[in-house]
Amino acid sequence: MNEPMLIELPKIVDPRGNLSFFENLKQIPFEIKRTYWIYDVPGGEMRGSHAFKIQQEFIIALSGSFDVILHDGTREMCFSLNRSYYGLYVPNKVWRKIENFSTNALAFIASDMKYDENDYVRDFEEFLHLQTNQ
Ligand code: TYD
Repeated sequence: MNEPMLIELPKIVDPRGNLSFFENLKQIPFEIKRTYWIYDVPGGEMRGSHAFKIQQEFIIALSGSFDVILHDGTREMCFSLNRSYYGLYVPNKVWRKIENFSTNALAFIASDMKYDENDYVRDFEEFLHLQTNQ
């Protein structure tokens, strides 16, 4: 799977409160090796601004809202996440920024790799170079 994609998750509606979930290789197309979350983002701040060489991710707005801006080397796409029952699949080799965080936004991210700084491409020109030379 090489295209960014919004994935709707199961939603078990219940008068006691709703429940959603995802499992390895079922709702998301990879096996989770790591999860992390971004929170307490001050107004106007941006996270990300990098690509991964190999790593794939799945991003959910568990609370609040934010925009994920993706660039595939040719075009830019904006995905607004604001519900906890769907998320954005982000394949490898896609430049990504997360911005426009609402107050109390909680970005939850599942990844198919352990943290590895060597997998990051943090320079946009280098990213474009990698895209045109693959
Ligand atoms: P980074 O991925 O650059 O943040 P973002 O892309 O969300 O703006 O990570 C910020 C710092 O946190 C960086 O120094 C590495 C560290 N970090 C870990 O140690 N483990 C992790 O799983 C992640 C995602 C980051």
